[in-house]
Amino acid sequence: MKIFIAGATGFIGRRLVRRILDEGRDSVLAFTRDAGRARLRLPPEVETVAWEPLLGPPPTGVLEGAGAVINLAGEPIAQRWSPVAKERIRGSRLTATRNLVTGILAAGSRPGVLVSASATGYYGPREDEPLDETASPGTGFLADLCRDWEAEAMRAAEVGVRRVTPRIGIVLGPHGGVLSRMVPFFKTFLGGPLGDGRQWMSWIHIDDLVGLILHAVRGESVSGPVNAVAPAPVTNLDFARGVGRVLGRPSAVPTPASVLRLLLGQEFADVLLTGQRVLPKKAQETGYRFRYPELEPALRDALSR
Ligand SMILES: NC(=O)c1ccc[n+]([C@@H]2O[C@H](COP(=O)([O-])OP(=O)(O)OC[C@H]3O[C@@H](n4cnc5c(N)ncnc54)[C@H](OP(=O)(O)O)[C@@H]3O)[C@@H](O)[C@H]2O)c1
Repeated sequence: MKIFIAGATGFIGRRLVRRILDEGRDSVLAFTRDAGRARLRLPPEVETVAWEPLLGPPPTGVLEGAGAVINLAGEPIAQRWSPVAKERIRGSRLTATRNLVTGILAAGSRPGVLVSASATGYYGPREDEPLDETASPGTGFLADLCRDWEAEAMRAAEVGVRRVTPRIGIVLGPHGGVLSRMVPFFKTFLGGPLGDGRQWMSWIHIDDLVGLILHAVRGESVSGPVNAVAPAPVTNLDFARGVGRVLGRPSAVPTPASVLRLLLGQEFADVLLTGQRVLPKKAQETGYRFRYPELEPALRDALSR
């Protein structure tokens, strides 16, 4: 099968591409805003097609022959949420997903499945409540974004394309994501919890996320939202302690909420100071077996490469 991926050049996408090619069963076509740069970042076997996601659907005819479409494109969330940044964050997900789905609807032979990213931010700030896929959406910019983003992908289901929206947690992997931002603090003995550290962190090792995305592509019984998190969420304090232990550094220097708000702006800082305790009910019910169900082995692997 040919798997089409938007956002293949990113942190998650590159790992996903590597896994698909290593397995040797499927080929990959990458939609990218910059085909020249993508060719440098992706293995030579990957076909690249230029697509400006805000301007319209992918070029006519390109989506013909796709067995599966995976949508990972989007402006990074981890930044100060100025009004302009918020617009970029929303547009790069809602307009891009809408245009991608419009292209799928127009294709003569449609793919069997669309896997379109969402995030655990869907649930909003939730204290200690355990959350499976049936939990109600939260409120706030990120929760609204995820709800609207999933709704854009839903249009594909209306024409019989199986649609899966992984609600992705905090992804742990080498060369990117949250760890690349945390590690410098720990290495300089400044690591520790954010605020009081009581907020939950629902994390997933990048190899499990990639495994779960492919489980969604290949598992006919998987559809709708799927919590893409490991079965053992931890508090921010325990997460910091785990990183400290694995790096052999102390983890006792908290970043006060006020400092975080000053550095990152109130709205994005508050996302880090609150959290969700998300459980992978559907992944487990549909038979996905986690390679890294516990935090410390996941951190050891992600931080060793
Ligand atoms: N990493 C995490 O911990 C995490 C957690 C929850 C959810 N997610 C979601 O999972 C998806 C993939 O995450 P990631 O960490 O791999 O993201 P990433 O490394 O930031 O890459 C995403 C890709 O999106 C494209 N992109 C970037 N800015 C864009 C813009 N303004 N407009 C349109 N396209 C843009 C880029 O591809 P081209 O330059 O090739 O076009 C980029 O390679 C994202 O939607 C993210 O929100 C990630």
